[in-house]
Amino acid sequence: MHSADPPILQAAAKLRSGGIVAMPTETVYGLAAKIDDENAIRKVFSVKERPFFDPLIVHIADLEQRKLVVSEWPEAAQLLAAQFWPGPLTLVLPKHPSISPLITSGLETVGIRQPRHPFARDLIRLAGSPLAAPSANKFGKTSPTTADHVRQSFANDDVFVLDGGQADVGLESTVLRITSDKLEILRPGAITKEMLEAALGQAGLSLAVTRAISNASPGHTEHHYMPDIPLVLFRFPRKPISAELRKKIALDLNLSSRLIGTELILDSRPAIAARELYAKLRICAEAGGSYIFCHLPEESSDSLWEAINDRMQRAASRVYTSD
Ligand code: TXA
Ligand code: MG
Repeated sequence: MHSADPPILQAAAKLRSGGIVAMPTETVYGLAAKIDDENAIRKVFSVKERPFFDPLIVHIADLEQRKLVVSEWPEAAQLLAAQFWPGPLTLVLPKHPSISPLITSGLETVGIRQPRHPFARDLIRLAGSPLAAPSANKFGKTSPTTADHVRQSFANDDVFVLDGGQADVGLESTVLRITSDKLEILRPGAITKEMLEAALGQAGLSLAVTRAISNASPGHTEHHYMPDIPLVLFRFPRKPISAELRKKIALDLNLSSRLIGTELILDSRPAIAARELYAKLRICAEAGGSYIFCHLPEESSDSLWEAINDRMQRAASRVYTSD
């Protein structure tokens, strides 16, 4: 690798020589390794401090590459890929025998998606194989939407960071498990239940789309995406915080009673709120207060709010329903 080479060539060389690369995608940055390089995949788990029970998503450059990753390709997958790829939709399907159990945490299924960011697809092509990549943050912490976020988390690690600008969507992909009789959303995202149902309906496929209730996705744990200081959520209209509530928060979070809160205000347009969420969480965490508070947006008909709410809930230490 030569430092005069364009960054994408340096990134591909890093992958081909057994290294790992933070790659931009339209959702969040991913920490990528070649799927046929178990050592590099182990490095991803180790620098991320991620437990091995949490499977990785495999990223492909084009539809043809799916044949290297999955062993079945049902009609619903074909239809949804045609409609939503490249884009923020991960399909969970039976894995190809060659896919390492390290990637799938020993499961017989694998998550696969074709990202929309052109750098991601070019990098996969140049690397010569699909790339396994979780979000490029330490396990359980806020996901990165800029190259700087990644650099802050992995300053002391041997990670090549490919800068592709700010992530456009800002929330991780929708994870959808496809079985013969149903489709289950394991993690909500920018491709919503309504969008999936409409696409299937138009093609005359009558498959139910349900939202998995339990943690059907091993890594999508109750506490995730957490900022460096506690986040508390208020499920009541925006108003000054009462002295009583302030006391309660201090007690609940084990903070000094002179606590200073930094307010996180989300844009009222869901696409913008999603794009800005993680960067705002980081800015609030660095503002010098002792905790972050946010009034959750009122229920809305736009189900992108469901994905935003899902991430907020998991990032939060406490939720208060009244003041
Ligand atoms: O948008 C995204 O999906 C980003 C970018 C980088 O592509 N990636 C991402 O990866 O968010 P990660 O590792 O942070 O989250 C992957 C999620 C986890 O909740 C994991 O449990 C789930 O996908 N997952 C992966 N493979 C699975 C499988 N075979 N069955 C069930 N859940 C799976
Ligand atoms: Mg993640």
